[in-house]
Amino acid sequence: MVQGKADRAHPMNAPAGTRPTAVTPPSPANAPVVQARNLTRIYQVGAVQVTGLDGIDLAIPAGRLVVLKGESGSGKSTLLSLLGGLDRLSSGELVVAGQDLSRGGEEDLTHFRRHVVGMIFQSFNLLPTLNVLENVCLPALLAGSAYTAVRRRARELLEWLGLGERLNHLPRQLSGGEMQRTAIARALINDPALVLADEPTGNLDSQNAGKVMALLADLNRTFKRTVVIATHSHLADPYAAMLLTLRDGRLAA
Ligand SMILES: Nc1ncnc2c1ncn2[C@@H]1O[C@H](COP(=O)(O)OP(=O)(O)O)[C@@H](O)[C@H]1O
Ligand SMILES: [Mg+2]
Repeated sequence: MVQGKADRAHPMNAPAGTRPTAVTPPSPANAPVVQARNLTRIYQVGAVQVTGLDGIDLAIPAGRLVVLKGESGSGKSTLLSLLGGLDRLSSGELVVAGQDLSRGGEEDLTHFRRHVVGMIFQSFNLLPTLNVLENVCLPALLAGSAYTAVRRRARELLEWLGLGERLNHLPRQLSGGEMQRTAIARALINDPALVLADEPTGNLDSQNAGKVMALLADLNRTFKRTVVIATHSHLADPYAAMLLTLRDGRLAA
């Protein structure tokens, strides 16, 4: 591959040892990381049933960058919540990274959320009283990883994301773009097979939005992790290996 100037200057091209290290090897190429059949989520609100997802069939091969589009209310967040184990399907089948999410108890789901997926949200969801480094370390400490190794990996990730000088800063001392980059580091700390981003640039100006999309594309390329981005923004389009459109809880053909 011919490397451009920008590539050579990239921190991921730094000597080994200064790069964020991948803990688990990537899944074999093209093994589906997501397999859904007739995936359905009905919300019961009082006496009313609201359809979030209306019977979706979906296979996402490992290593893809997937862009998920659709108008507000079309089911994007519902789908990401199911893929991330934040919510349970009403019916159908859903297997993510080999784990059957239609079965199993809360403990299985907790383990799944900690070890298999990393999530990024529009509103960043950083803990306000923890500094940048602590926010990034937290999911790994909860997952039981050793403190010294976690700190090292968090620093590596934050340096890669251009936040090496901000480790001790609190979220309120950061710009929106910096908060979202902190959230990206946090999503990567447990080396997830699948990174899910729900409107990750919804609260960012266009310059920071472009940067965040480029970083998501970069981590997809660099770490070979599957990335699903729900977004209204066209900024993700150039990076999409797979484009999905939801309409009223169904995938548009
Ligand atoms: N917790 C909930 N309770 C009831 N209805 C919900 C809930 N979450 C989402 N919905 C409904 O499910 C549909 C899909 O919503 P959502 O997945 O949030 O769409 P999007 O992210 O594309 O805007 C909408 O009709 C929405 O009102
Ligand atoms: Mg949404």
